Amino acid sequence: MAEQLTIPQTDDRTELYTALLPQIEALVAPENDPVANMANVVAVLREAFGFFWVGFYRVVGNELILGPFQGSVACSRIAYGKGVCGTAWEKASTQVVADVDTFTGHIACSSASRSEIVVPLFNPSGTQVVGVLDIDSDRPADFSDIDAVNLEDLLKKIGNRLQ
Ligand code: SME
Repeated sequence: MAEQLTIPQTDDRTELYTALLPQIEALVAPENDPVANMANVVAVLREAFGFFWVGFYRVVGNELILGPFQGSVACSRIAYGKGVCGTAWEKASTQVVADVDTFTGHIACSSASRSEIVVPLFNPSGTQVVGVLDIDSDRPADFSDIDAVNLEDLLKKIGNRLQ
């Protein structure tokens, strides 16, 4: 297994995602355990992009429960439809928040967080949200369609290794 990552020295997100996607796929392919795979995905994204907080929340019953993450201590449970994460679950769609202070109901786990993207993780048939990938940045408006498209693609490709 290739545990050594090759991370291009660039700020170009498209270039970074293009280089990382096959490496993440190779990293999770031989491992069946979803927690181990979520932990490694989070580690790659944090290391490659330097994001402030990266983590998964899993749908358990009627709430999201904190999964593998890197960053500061976070709230462990989020109700359906609450915050950016609960909204991504309810709407089954990616939420890109340029300024967390303007998102009604945003759950502030850290005052350093300025912008956020939350991408739903679907079951293999694509009919149900089983979790979300949450990334926080300490820079305002740090996420765009480039992140949304590439992270959705990533979760689509490796989703079966994360559940
Ligand atoms: N901001 C999120 C809560 C999770 S933390 O950012 C880690 C939200 O509003 O759902």
